[in-house]
Amino acid sequence: MSVTETAAWKALEDHAAMMQNTHLRDLFLADSSDKKRFDELSLSHEHLLLDFSKQRITQNTLTLLKALADNCQLNDWKARLFNGDHINTSEDRPALHTALRQPEDSHLALANHNIIGDVHANLAHMASMVERIHAGQWRGYSGLPIDTIVNIGVGGSDLGPLMACKALSDAQPPEGHQLKMHFVSSMDGSQIADLLDRLVPTTTLFIISSKSFTTIDTLSNANTARQWLKSASGVKTELLNRRHFIGISASAEKMNQWGIPENSQLNFWDWTGGRYSMWSAIGLPIALRIGMQGFKAMLSGAHAMDEHFKTAPFEENLPVRLGMIGIWNINFLNIHAHAILPYDGRLSHLPAYLEQLEMESNGKSVSRQGEAIGYSTCPILWGEIGPNAQHAFYQLLHQGSESVMCDFIAPARRYDDFNNKGLQQQHQLSLANCLAQSRLLALGDAAIAGNDTAPIHKRYRGNQPSTTVLLDELNPYSFGQLIALYEHKVFVQSVIWDINPFDQWGVELGKKMATDLLKPLENEPSYSSFDSSTEGLLNAILNKQEP
Ligand code: F6P
Repeated sequence: MSVTETAAWKALEDHAAMMQNTHLRDLFLADSSDKKRFDELSLSHEHLLLDFSKQRITQNTLTLLKALADNCQLNDWKARLFNGDHINTSEDRPALHTALRQPEDSHLALANHNIIGDVHANLAHMASMVERIHAGQWRGYSGLPIDTIVNIGVGGSDLGPLMACKALSDAQPPEGHQLKMHFVSSMDGSQIADLLDRLVPTTTLFIISSKSFTTIDTLSNANTARQWLKSASGVKTELLNRRHFIGISASAEKMNQWGIPENSQLNFWDWTGGRYSMWSAIGLPIALRIGMQGFKAMLSGAHAMDEHFKTAPFEENLPVRLGMIGIWNINFLNIHAHAILPYDGRLSHLPAYLEQLEMESNGKSVSRQGEAIGYSTCPILWGEIGPNAQHAFYQLLHQGSESVMCDFIAPARRYDDFNNKGLQQQHQLSLANCLAQSRLLALGDAAIAGNDTAPIHKRYRGNQPSTTVLLDELNPYSFGQLIALYEHKVFVQSVIWDINPFDQWGVELGKKMATDLLKPLENEPSYSSFDSSTEGLLNAILNKQEP
């Protein structure tokens, strides 16, 4: 039976029909005497506070959402996730990113083998590499110590480390070891070309990050890097492979084939999804940036969120509430756009990271049983640093025709140097904007005295729901909590929608088609025929490329 036919779903539809005409302003007005809406609808866990009071919900909404979650056996699914059941059915394997952050003395058996031992052996290997590089003992072909790291990867092998290195840029790296870090992902060569012009071959180390080690984007950038080193050094490839490359992958065989020596390889497992992999060896750039201690603090923060997700009751569970309110907005209030708005420049890559996490996980329309789904799933998600977005797309949020749900994300505290008044003021300014925007989006201008007589083009209708995620401060631990919160939110929604969030078949065919199209572009005989648009564009490109 489809979830839409259950009594729990129908009860929510009836409730939504009543709530459709209730403005967020009314919900706050109803509360005006005792002002308890915030107290009743916000939840905290350790260093995170989530304010759901600007969502278009009442206590009744939450009761009905709990009934839906129970109906979909959310608790059983949570247990299956953490126990390592093969819940990634289309690939017949578990999804065990949570195991990557379990403490060393814990235990999780897969086929009678304790994988937590493997996880920590891997962390130890990673730590020894980090230590060698930080100590200046990893030397390039000329004997000079490495001082520059370039991570080559794409998707999950890029976005997590990229986001974390920026987000944790305040975290103290181990003494005296300020490595220069760069990230290269784009297959067209523009990023690497720019970078190679500026880098010094003798002191640059490339990390090739790819779960599959077959991704053409990554391998073409890696080959370009090796060619650059060869031209600059004139030394043997074998020496360059040994001194200038680290490989991170679930396929040792593929790393061997490319030429990465065994002791420069870091492995992880097929039960770690690409977009869930920054907790694995893929996180090496993070550990190089903030040190192994910082990396472990990030894992601990994520583990604390795992435990909270696993054990907290529905009424107190942050990821469950975040996920279920998303379901309410998408499936019952028909809101299909979701803006991610961090009010902290260090979180500038969070929107791109969540785009992959949410849309590659839940951008699906076939159920676990292989049937077409007749209801909405993942919304269109995008975002930008909030203050910058205010000068770009907030116009649409305030006065456009679309309903949009927003996540505002901000740290309460920033800057250790309390004597630096300028920076402190800038932080308060950013928080003031964060609060002002979520308030105006919720209440509209009628909440602001005198504005309700303004001409229509100056009016703000409000009623755009949002959640504010407030971190005590942004540090490795709270950052780990934040990312695990979103991972589990995505899982909660997948359970309700009855989809597998851990595969991504929708990205495969495009890659194959690109291989077919490369032949005519490289003037090789091609036996494929294309549609007239593709043929026309191919010919136009080839004509324009003629000298
Ligand atoms: O094409 C999509 C994808 O498979 C993502 O899921 C993944 O994060 C990315 O490509 C990179 O894959 P890999 O780590 O195997 O190079």
